[in-house]
Amino acid sequence: MERLPGFRDFYPEPLPSPEDWSCDARQHVFDSWRSVARRYGFREYDGPPLEPLDLYTTKSGEEIVGQLFNFVDKGDRAVSLRPEITPTVARMVAAGARAYKKPIKWFSLPQLYRYEKQQKGRLREHFQLNCDIFGEADRAADAEIIALLIDQLRGLGLASTDFVIRLSSRQAWQQFFEKHHGDPARAYEFYQIVDKIEREQPEVTTRKLADLGVATSAVEAFITAGEPTEDLAAVVENLAARGLREFVKIDYNVIRGLAYYTGVVFEAFDRGGKFRAIAGGGRYDGLVKLVSGGRVDMPALGFGMGDVVLTELLKDRGRLPKFSAGVEVMVLIEDETLRTDSLALVQRLRDAGRVTEYSLTAAKSDRQFKRAMELGARSTVRLERDPRGVILAHVKTLATREEQVVDPAVIVTKL
Ligand code: HAM
Repeated sequence: MERLPGFRDFYPEPLPSPEDWSCDARQHVFDSWRSVARRYGFREYDGPPLEPLDLYTTKSGEEIVGQLFNFVDKGDRAVSLRPEITPTVARMVAAGARAYKKPIKWFSLPQLYRYEKQQKGRLREHFQLNCDIFGEADRAADAEIIALLIDQLRGLGLASTDFVIRLSSRQAWQQFFEKHHGDPARAYEFYQIVDKIEREQPEVTTRKLADLGVATSAVEAFITAGEPTEDLAAVVENLAARGLREFVKIDYNVIRGLAYYTGVVFEAFDRGGKFRAIAGGGRYDGLVKLVSGGRVDMPALGFGMGDVVLTELLKDRGRLPKFSAGVEVMVLIEDETLRTDSLALVQRLRDAGRVTEYSLTAAKSDRQFKRAMELGARSTVRLERDPRGVILAHVKTLATREEQVVDPAVIVTKL
């Protein structure tokens, strides 16, 4: 049985083949994501993987709706696997906001599902770090969320030579569209065209823009001028104060494909331009109100960073550590009459928090030793009866091959 296209198996290392996805690398990324988010005072949340279909059909925009894994459930409900978690968190915040002090700073690591054409950097499921701030309209929050994105990437060993955050403004593009006689009802259509400008054939873009009454030359001139809005200038200044100026640049090629953005928007890319976007986000001040049917009105902003492109980039830059089983002790059972005592020892070591391995069944001693080497164990421990019949533990440090003989009762302190 084959797995479905666009889905992944995650293996523990060493991997069966270099193309396989590593569960160790995934955990390494998750640990780093969590630790950096917590450093910024963010709290973890999660929501359901399956949601009512209409959570997405009105809120996210057509592009994502075309990629939904949706179906009708046995209770006749139209449902969808989550393609993103932003509408979910907007709903959660609207429902629970009164219990929390503002600004609300939350993060999550959901697995998301999009029925996309499978290609490099884009699959049908991915894990996505989401960090969002609710209840703060000041641009200090935009700078804070971008600083967090930068530190998330730095936390994984990437530097300003590896990636750049391209900053833009949905608002600036909205004003541009209005000024160029665009029909406001078709603004989202316009954003979609700009969003794809770098990936689309130029003739196709020109034709689509002409259909909206917008000249390609005007769009190009606006991008080239790259005149920062007041918000963007303030964000850049704030980041400069933190010593993070070199990680960002103003780039109006970015507009974001999703419908709900209202202000500063941004995307993270590798400097070489070899990969798809690593992360994307921005301000979406109207979504909480929309999702709560007008009950709760709250400014919001955040970003999503997927694991797929990120892991490809980390591999490319040699930024993934070597992973092993992390075995600390291998208990060798060379004398089967000592298996009971050896099991007691294994248990004592594990109770003390030591990663401990041993052979489940009787095996030749050289095979047990070879296994200890394969597992990268730091030491081996072997019980032996001395001539008086007293059981002693022989502890060997594998790096130095030094051996010491100790009383098994005090072994934990000797390792
Ligand atoms: P997004 O740009 O659709 O934004 O996704 C964010 C990131 O998730 C992308 O930059 C990419 O790394 C990853 N990603 C998206 N789709 C796929 C895919 N099919 N395969 C692999 N990776 C993928 C959002 O989802 C927004 N909800 C983010 C956000 C949070 N905005 C505000 N708060």
